[in-house]
Amino acid sequence: MPPLRIGLIGCGFIGRFHSRALRGLIRRGLVDAEYAAVCDTSEERARSFADIAEVPTVTTNATKVIDSPDIDAVYICVPTAGHKELVLRAAERGKHIFCEKPLATNLTDVEQMVAAVSAARVGAGVGLILRHSPVYTVLKSLTEDSRLGRLMAIVMRDDQFFPVQGHYQSEWRNDYRQVGSGTLLEHSIHDVDVLRWLGGEVRAVRGAVRNFAGHERVEDLAIADLEFAQGGRATLVSVWHNVLGRPSARRLELFFENGLFATDHDIFGPIHLQVGAEPPSTLPEEEVRRRYLELVGLESGVYEDVLTRYSLEDFFILRAWTDGASPFPDFPLALEAHRLVDAIYRSAEAGGEQVLLA
Ligand SMILES: NC(=O)c1ccc[n+]([C@@H]2O[C@H](COP(=O)([O-])OP(=O)(O)OC[C@H]3O[C@@H](n4cnc5c(N)ncnc54)[C@H](O)[C@@H]3O)[C@@H](O)[C@H]2O)c1
Repeated sequence: MPPLRIGLIGCGFIGRFHSRALRGLIRRGLVDAEYAAVCDTSEERARSFADIAEVPTVTTNATKVIDSPDIDAVYICVPTAGHKELVLRAAERGKHIFCEKPLATNLTDVEQMVAAVSAARVGAGVGLILRHSPVYTVLKSLTEDSRLGRLMAIVMRDDQFFPVQGHYQSEWRNDYRQVGSGTLLEHSIHDVDVLRWLGGEVRAVRGAVRNFAGHERVEDLAIADLEFAQGGRATLVSVWHNVLGRPSARRLELFFENGLFATDHDIFGPIHLQVGAEPPSTLPEEEVRRRYLELVGLESGVYEDVLTRYSLEDFFILRAWTDGASPFPDFPLALEAHRLVDAIYRSAEAGGEQVLLA
């Protein structure tokens, strides 16, 4: 089989992250792929990526990449409102797709995109990167301990500075036509997905949103209350603030009848825990990394290096495509998170009324 030929569309903040990972994985021979094309509406940005990665094809026209017979798979890393058009075209052309989260600015578009990739039977992955977070993967495995009893509550607090400044180049994030809404959809779709992962199916939500910075229809505070089908509850507080010097942070606490877990770092931990009558303890970062690699079956040293530099998200996407398997997380999984986000917004619009999920 010839190597899988990849085209990357959108050479901004997150495009750079994937571009580095692609180069690193190919250079180390961990995936059978070729980085074949880059595209950005800014020629300068596209060229800067191509020069570093020695990519032969550089263009400002995304359809050229998608339609090219020399491209098998595309990374879609443009602002959120641009995802749908590119995903639909790539599905129509039978290309494998990796699309950044959120898939689109509204649920109707997401449903159309999910239907399109399903009808085209292409391998379609989504950038819900926390599904590849070592600390949350290890945390999930720890919560499967039967001594814990039932999950009672999850508290998640996510704060980052309004991402139109600092190391973000995404000025579009305060323009609702490009972003759809604010911190809940654009950023905390990650959190909603993690809450569903850790807590199970959600039967009802309530929500509230506020707009402090004053960007029209782009909320910078979202509060959500999720009721899990099994009875536990979760609270999410998502904030886009003004303090450039404070890095993005997620604080997560899980309360069980007989246990407690807490972590302040969304990638490597540590995890603080207490199970039953045991004294409180801490799983340090190194142990989180070790257990994660063991859980995902990648124990050799080279993966530890990849994990530290790029996360294993791109490795898993590329491996799924080259193995003819389904990428994870996929579009249907993202659709569930979008359904929850949509329900939270509907509750907020209705003044915080409970919204039941079918
Ligand atoms: N998974 C994550 O944790 C994560 C983190 C940041 C951003 N994102 C998502 O990634 C997407 C991009 O965000 P970003 O922060 O990288 O934005 P960005 O503004 O830094 O980069 C977007 C790039 O796309 C280019 N572009 C716009 N329209 C284009 C088109 N039609 N064809 C080609 N290029 C085009 C822009 O010129 C820009 O260089 C958004 O959906 C965002 O939500 C995900």
